[in-house]
Amino acid sequence: MVHITRRERFSAAHKLSKAEWSEAKNYETFGKCSNPNWHGHNYVLWVTVKGKPEPSTGFVVDLSALGDIIKEKVIKHVDHKNLNVDVSFTKDLMTSTENLAIAFWNQLEKPIAELGAQLHSVKLQETENNHVEYFGEK
Ligand code: NI
Repeated sequence: MVHITRRERFSAAHKLSKAEWSEAKNYETFGKCSNPNWHGHNYVLWVTVKGKPEPSTGFVVDLSALGDIIKEKVIKHVDHKNLNVDVSFTKDLMTSTENLAIAFWNQLEKPIAELGAQLHSVKLQETENNHVEYFGEK
């Protein structure tokens, strides 16, 4: 198996808070991400797929087609949007990096399989100091 990774980037707004909690408790729990009037991140998304190189091309997957899937299924829905309000597959979640990675996996797994590759991981960076990586349910 060979693993191959495509990177895409997007910018989006969100907020982590619970309506039933005080502003102080939300800040204590979620830090700056609890800001009541929203804030944004420049997210970086790495999507890794795996498979065997096709003998005739030497490629595991057509990277341009993979890029198109990521843009179509994730990026165009989230870029310059509010993840808590605008995006059908994230608006009902606590929009933590963890939950976003899972939501993106769910958007990508099937179309990547239809491309002839297998989704291996979704890695999402919210800040330069923090990223999460999801490998599907094991
Ligand atoms: Ni945040």
